[in-house]
Amino acid sequence: MIKKVGIVGFGQMGSGIGQVAASNDYEVKAIEVNDDAFQTGMKYINKSLSKMIEKGKADEAFKEKVLGNISGSTDLNELADCDIICEAVVENMDIKKEVYKKLDSICKPETIFASNTSSLSIGDMASVTNRRSQFIGLHFFNPVPVMKLCEVVKTLDTSEQTFDTSFSFAESLGKACVTAKDSPGFIVNVLLVPYLLDAIRNLECGLATKEDIDNGMMLGCGHPMGPLTLTDFIGLDTILYIADIMFEEFKNSHYSAPPLLRRMVNAGYMGRKAGRGFYDYSKK
Ligand code: 3HC
Repeated sequence: MIKKVGIVGFGQMGSGIGQVAASNDYEVKAIEVNDDAFQTGMKYINKSLSKMIEKGKADEAFKEKVLGNISGSTDLNELADCDIICEAVVENMDIKKEVYKKLDSICKPETIFASNTSSLSIGDMASVTNRRSQFIGLHFFNPVPVMKLCEVVKTLDTSEQTFDTSFSFAESLGKACVTAKDSPGFIVNVLLVPYLLDAIRNLECGLATKEDIDNGMMLGCGHPMGPLTLTDFIGLDTILYIADIMFEEFKNSHYSAPPLLRRMVNAGYMGRKAGRGFYDYSKK
């Protein structure tokens, strides 16, 4: 039975997962490196809940309930009695392994560890713990309160019980689940990321303007956002990071990052969060 949910890393994804858990009556304890980082996550949640109220999908009482179900801390020890940990720290294997080593000695034996990684090996993370069978991937999509999907990722060691409990947990957050093997990009990113990279390659070789590439896919294929707007939305650094991991794994040029993407990331054009990417968000 899952009652208490620990979130490690309360950025865009972690706070989104915390929000949907708190909305579905779970007690949420969120860990961040400092209070400012935790408050930034709470701001995302406040904004999202206000949007829902504006659209008539929630009321003030719901907002209060959700906010009341979430508390923050900088101390991993406060996760000792959590039933599941959803980890959404930076996509860096060394950092994730450090976090999991500590969590393994802190959390009660039954706690399930679930990583929100988009492309790193979950089995590799599990290898530094003594609970490989209680390790799983729960990969949510941005914005978490809106996107309906959760990829449930099994490693070679994930037990049936861990899988069933985690799958039911994700469903209880209102998500539709699909099951994937522990392979870079799982189901969605292995298709989505090459498409985004090709859109950047097309811009780079002068096929069309960024607006026309985006409008082409929105108006021609019914996508809610064009590929360059979506890359800005996800973060150019995140897309580059995933592309590099997939290229390293598959050694297929399909996954190689176009030079323009790397140049933009090196220059700080990270997308919407940085105020600039393919488009300028500084005045929005
Ligand atoms: N919280 C709550 N509700 C939100 C929200 C949020 N953060 N953001 C948007 N909404 C709601 C709005 O209130 C609105 O509700 P309505 O349908 O009742 O009017 C609805 O969602 C649509 O929002 P908006 O009208 O404000 O704006 P858009 O129509 O442009 O939609 C969007 C915004 C939902 C982000 C849409 O553009 C979209 O679906 N884009 C694609 C997003 C996507 O592909 N995400 C996956 C990225 S890949 C990923 O995350 C994996 C990672 O590993 C890389």
